[in-house]
Amino acid sequence: MDYSKKVSFPSTFLWGSASAAYQVEGAWNVDGKGKSVWDNYAKVPGATFQGTNGDVAVDHYHRYKEDVKLMAEQGLKAYRFSIAWSRIFPDGTGEINEAGLAFYDRLIDELLSYNIVPVVTLYHWDIPQALMDAYGGWENRQVIEDFNNYAVTLFKRYGDRVKHWVSLNEQNIFVGFGYRYGSHPPAVKDEKRFYEVNHIANLANAKVIQSFKALNIPEALIGPSFAYSPVYPATPNPNDVLASENAEELLAHFWMDVYVWGEYPKATMHYLSENGIAPTILPGDMELLKAGKPDFMGLNYYQTTTVEYNPLIGGVGVAEMNFSGKKGTSKDSGIPGMYKTVQNPYTETTDWDWTIDPQGLHVALRRIENRYHLPILITENGLGAFDTLESDDQINDDYRIDYLSQHVSAIQEALTDGVEVLGYCTWSYTDLLSWLNGYQKRYGMVYIDRDEHDEKTLRRIPKKSYFWFKELIEKNGEQN
Ligand code: NOJ
Repeated sequence: MDYSKKVSFPSTFLWGSASAAYQVEGAWNVDGKGKSVWDNYAKVPGATFQGTNGDVAVDHYHRYKEDVKLMAEQGLKAYRFSIAWSRIFPDGTGEINEAGLAFYDRLIDELLSYNIVPVVTLYHWDIPQALMDAYGGWENRQVIEDFNNYAVTLFKRYGDRVKHWVSLNEQNIFVGFGYRYGSHPPAVKDEKRFYEVNHIANLANAKVIQSFKALNIPEALIGPSFAYSPVYPATPNPNDVLASENAEELLAHFWMDVYVWGEYPKATMHYLSENGIAPTILPGDMELLKAGKPDFMGLNYYQTTTVEYNPLIGGVGVAEMNFSGKKGTSKDSGIPGMYKTVQNPYTETTDWDWTIDPQGLHVALRRIENRYHLPILITENGLGAFDTLESDDQINDDYRIDYLSQHVSAIQEALTDGVEVLGYCTWSYTDLLSWLNGYQKRYGMVYIDRDEHDEKTLRRIPKKSYFWFKELIEKNGEQN
């Protein structure tokens, strides 16, 4: 819909920004922290862009006060960060590391002293290596109990001060990259294992939500963050439209239906069974999934996906992705008989070949609202780009401002439609380690003076987008 007048953002709207422990903290072996799978994986030759890792990252662990002060000066209302499981339980389970808990106490208290709402992610991809060694991590149902024990420890410790909790961050991505595409730890490429692990992760997600509800923490909310990329058909050709239905179900409903309804979509389950890759569902599983209904849907939105018909015989399968920032190097991919991705001629792409589609955020919000009737917290949205530090410490990232500004407009349109959006966290606050893409892919509103191999000064330098966002917050999202 086009609107001549849009509603205002609610006064409680959380204008925020986000990060994740492994991507910012550094201090990988400090104060009793155990190793996570990423501490090992990033050091496997060839695993990440130019061998970059998060040993130091942007040293947020030691510089959190400076970072929080910058947030306060910007007027940020919320900061989303993740807790490193291996700081709290160095072995994943068993003995608690008090120094790890104390670090997050300090961070939370620092945020609260400036009235910045902490949004805490329980799991942002860094399972303790000890659990991987002990029983294969997410592949073993023991992880459900261990993850629950870790989560309940956090709820009890911080529940008095933290009211916004994210359970699993982008389950579809960490399970997919870890067990299907082989590019995140443990670098497995096996469809059957992918679906098995995903089911166990669903159970773990439901279990912690169930435990959270049982604790009855006053005014506290919890939900998963899902990486949702709404699917468009390439043309009105009914075969392409059906391909887009297939993809929307397999790539999105397959997770969100489980989160909200505790049910797997039928056509996808039929496809998985026919191909011998359906997850093993034990008695009690579906009951647990139904018991873990979230309070909100966390939405990580970056792009849309356009698909066309992909024949069963001779169709396109898994293909190369672009982790180098050389535009145009990713290839279309798909599942024969289901769908195949194609370029959308109406949208631009980033240097990493991610579609730029602000209106897609409007579509995402509408689809989630219409299907699940839950409030939505936008837990991530942002532009990965090459930034240039110019003389006088200027970073003129007008392209990022354009990107963010258009996405904020899309949110306001969705609000006008009646969608309940609780807040908007940009990704990311400072520049950080982009997992497989090194440090050159910058998302922050605050520049960090470091590159792939040289930690340089690690100085924090606000970009032009930092000041733009500051003003936007002051005007509570009104853009003219
Ligand atoms: C989503 C992930 O949650 C985050 O860790 C990552 O860096 C961004 N997407 C950008 O790729």
